[in-house]
Amino acid sequence: MKKMMLTISAFGLVAISGSALAATGAEIVEERECLECHEFASDFEGVDAAEMNELITARLEVAKHKATAGLSAEEITLLADYIAAEANK
Ligand code: HEC
Repeated sequence: MKKMMLTISAFGLVAISGSALAATGAEIVEERECLECHEFASDFEGVDAAEMNELITARLEVAKHKATAGLSAEEITLLADYIAAEANK
C-alpha cells in the first residue's frame, strides 16, 4: 500500500513538471492546429524569427484568431523560432 502511494505521487510529479516545462514550437503548432489554416512555407516565407515573433504577438489582439489567444511570451518565442525555420527551409 505504501509503495503504491509512492508510485502514484512520483507519477503526479512527472505529470506536473511535464506540463510546467515549455513545450517545443512544434508541439504548440500541433496543439493549436496552426497547420489547419496555414502553410508556413507560403504564408511566412522570408519572415525571420524576430519578425515572426512580432506577427504572432500582434495576433494576440485579434480576438477572432483564437489559435494564438493566451500565448505566453515564452511560447511565442518558441513558435516564432520554429515557424521561421519551417518557412525558410
Ligand atoms: C482557424 C484557422 C486558423 C488557425 C488554426 C490559425 N490561423 Fe493564423 N490566421 C488565420 C487567418 C484567416 C489569418 C489572416 C486573416 C486575419 O487577419 O485574421 C491568420 C493570420 C495569422 C498571422 C498574421 C499574418 C500576417 O501577415 O500578419 C499570424 C502570425 C498567424 N496567423 C499565426 C498563426 C499561428 C502561429 C497559429 C497556430 C498557433 C495560427 N495562426 C493558427 C487563420 C488561422
